[in-house]
Amino acid sequence: MINDYIQDNKQRFLDELIEILKIPSISADSAYAGEVRKMAEDLSVRLSDSGADHIELIETAGHPIVYGDKIIDPKLPTVLVYGHYDVQPPDPIDLWESGPFEPVIKKTKIHPEGAIFARGACDDKGQMYMQVKAFEAMVKTNSLPCNVKFLIEGEEEVGSENLEDVIKANADKFKADVILVSDTGIMANDIPTITTGLRGLSYVEVEVTGPNRDLHSGLYGGAVANPINALSKMIAALKDENNHITIPGFYDQVETISEDEKTLMANAPFSVQSYCDALGINDVSGENGYSTLERATVRPTLDVNGIWGGYIGEGAKTVIASKAYAKISMRLVPNQDYNVITKLFEDYFKTLAPEGITVKVTPHHGGEPAVTPVDSDEYRAASMAMETTFGKKPIPLRSGGSIPIVAMFERVLGIKTVLFGFGLDSDAIHSPNEHYGLFNYYKGIETIPLFYANYAKLKSN
Ligand code: BES
Ligand code: MN
Ligand code: MN
Repeated sequence: MINDYIQDNKQRFLDELIEILKIPSISADSAYAGEVRKMAEDLSVRLSDSGADHIELIETAGHPIVYGDKIIDPKLPTVLVYGHYDVQPPDPIDLWESGPFEPVIKKTKIHPEGAIFARGACDDKGQMYMQVKAFEAMVKTNSLPCNVKFLIEGEEEVGSENLEDVIKANADKFKADVILVSDTGIMANDIPTITTGLRGLSYVEVEVTGPNRDLHSGLYGGAVANPINALSKMIAALKDENNHITIPGFYDQVETISEDEKTLMANAPFSVQSYCDALGINDVSGENGYSTLERATVRPTLDVNGIWGGYIGEGAKTVIASKAYAKISMRLVPNQDYNVITKLFEDYFKTLAPEGITVKVTPHHGGEPAVTPVDSDEYRAASMAMETTFGKKPIPLRSGGSIPIVAMFERVLGIKTVLFGFGLDSDAIHSPNEHYGLFNYYKGIETIPLFYANYAKLKSN
């Protein structure tokens, strides 16, 4: 019945996604604030057309939140669906094979049935919209088994900094039994996975200053500290020869991984060779003593995300820049606290400055790590749903990415989350040519109603 509805409306579900992918809702760039709002307004109409009531644009100090719900019986459990309608900037634009906001469907090796290429296709418009269309299918076939609330925000990609205040001020409105989020991935289209953990984040920008103006590199070179050379050395000093982070105290709160979880990771169908092949690298690299899967999920790390300074135009200009900059992210694991880590970084980084150099550290957004339980009705409902549609029991695995609101929801509302994502690591999120498989889009729409059915059933026992 519901599957017939999904089948009959398949093309429209895709056409609607294509429409929302055309709106450049780039939350980081204030020049696009109007587009972000347009996206929120468009989505609220679509949510209403899909069957939700009490549609509202909740204003924040930044971009608005889209809210809608369907309360069929206060005695039934309530699922709060969280997603985000904002996207990352599309840069570098030259590397896109088609316009980032001109969605096209193309076949790829991994997606032989086609994938939709556009910024936000996978992260998170495509995945968020699966939730909306699965909801529509349940409403229109009278098979919605519990209450639903939608909270779709427009600031996830910039750290969700205004969400906590809104949640605290409206705790009653967001009351629910479980939070359902489709913003993560599976290992492969034939290896279903449920994400059971996310890393936290400390993101800082550093500014390194030498002389008070740019200098002729012949007249002054060799006699004053060069900020770019100094910054390079300081960054290099943040890791030792074992790729261990050298910041004193950095690992103090890091939780050790249980033997069970280690075994789970060791047995996961992960191949270093295919990982390297997919990335065009001849070997992996990371902290000594840990596997690639461990390095990318349960261990903290530090990476430079951007670095600039000096002359980068055509030809050669002989100059010593006055300043050099870098943006650095640290991915954190339980029980690291991003405020503590940010402070440890700042104090240590300053000690690395050579004579003649001053350092300024500016923290950007942070986020808490999260783990989600596997011995709960929520997890079982999700696992059984995937087992039905994939024909295989999903593997519980942590992810290396961050969704800071997961820990915040638990802290503020006391509600746990199920990470029910269907993307692939190869979908190039945050990167040029981001895409989302049609297989994944439809598989999500088909699987989500089973989560609801299983969950309602388990909760009524
Ligand atoms: N959806 C991603 C996070 C993600 C992707 C988790 C794939 C697991 C698997 C989210 O939109 C994201 O990009 N988060 C940011 C953090 C945020 C504070 C900017 C991240 O992880 O860099
Ligand atoms: Mn996302
Ligand atoms: Mn993202």
